[in-house]
Amino acid sequence: MLCGIPGIGKSALLEYAVHSASGFRVVRVAGIEIEQELPYAALHQMYSALRSHTVVLPPPQRKALAVIFGAEAGEAPDRLMVDLAVLGLLSAAAVDQPLLCVLDDAQWLDSASAQVMSFVAHRISAEPLAIAFATRPPNQLLNSLPEITLRGLRPADARALLLSALHAPLDEPVTERILAEARGNPLTLTELPRMAAPNQFAGGFSRPDALALSEQIEPGYRQRVASLPPDTRTLLLVAAAEPEGDVSLLWRAARYLGIAPSAFDAAETDGLVEVREKVTFLHPLARSALYRAAGLAQRQAAHRVLANVTDPETDPEWRAWHLEGS
Ligand SMILES: Nc1ncnc2c1ncn2[C@@H]1O[C@H](COP(=O)(O)OP(=O)(O)OP(=O)(O)O)[C@@H](O)[C@H]1O
Ligand SMILES: [Mg+2]
Repeated sequence: MLCGIPGIGKSALLEYAVHSASGFRVVRVAGIEIEQELPYAALHQMYSALRSHTVVLPPPQRKALAVIFGAEAGEAPDRLMVDLAVLGLLSAAAVDQPLLCVLDDAQWLDSASAQVMSFVAHRISAEPLAIAFATRPPNQLLNSLPEITLRGLRPADARALLLSALHAPLDEPVTERILAEARGNPLTLTELPRMAAPNQFAGGFSRPDALALSEQIEPGYRQRVASLPPDTRTLLLVAAAEPEGDVSLLWRAARYLGIAPSAFDAAETDGLVEVREKVTFLHPLARSALYRAAGLAQRQAAHRVLANVTDPETDPEWRAWHLEGS
């Protein structure tokens, strides 16, 4: 299972897997946000593709699938019967030709499909059958599968991608700042130059006037943030004002503000941010939404705190940058 924030390259990597799997038959399934509440909606995509193989299933299993997908009348089947039927279906389909099942956007799987796919994924053994999932975190439904977390492009690759997406040359300090803010996210690196005129980059895109980022996505994040406790919101704003995602800097800022680092837990539980080696927002838009939703005075206060806790010896440029924003 590939796991990672929006735009980090999960679908691109699944596509790569599909292209690399020469000789495989490929079945694609995708979680669909508006179908999350419909039991077996995602599984139906797979069933449609492989229906012809149901003839080899034992009759009770065949019947179980027919009933859940409305092809036959009958009592709702046992969960295990459905699990076994889907395992049987995939194994049968893999007999003639190896089978790769690609399941993208697994964060939107309906829970019934997720449970079945998790059962099947745990039982693949000798069959020429592979299942690759991609999901945004957190995904509680599939959390026991072996996982690879995508963490963004390496700095040299990020730079090459940014430069390839620009229509005009950029000053080196501005390039550096964008690279720091994008944190290797290929979507951010390719979309942002498209969304802004080069002169809007000056000062980096975390400034409120910098970019007209998607007006449709931001309000959702603003609402989520509004429901968090005040100390959590304060720390989130500090994190949003800090492009590098430096964890120790964030904790220094918390101490400076007299806020316990545990105040950040609520934001992590909500899935808005993740604190590992870096502070990472679920989505670059979550960060900009937060930053822009705060009032000017709050933003200035956040930069003032960051300037105060940034080491003037080792990071004079960032300190100056925060002072400028304060
Ligand atoms: N390694 C890469 N090099 C260059 N561009 C990339 C790379 N990986 C992804 N991209 C580009 O970045 C964009 C986002 O990638 P992708 O759609 O795979 O993200 P995602 O993780 O699936 O996001 P979401 O959670 O929103 O589905 C796409 O335009 C994709 O072509
Ligand atoms: Mg994707």
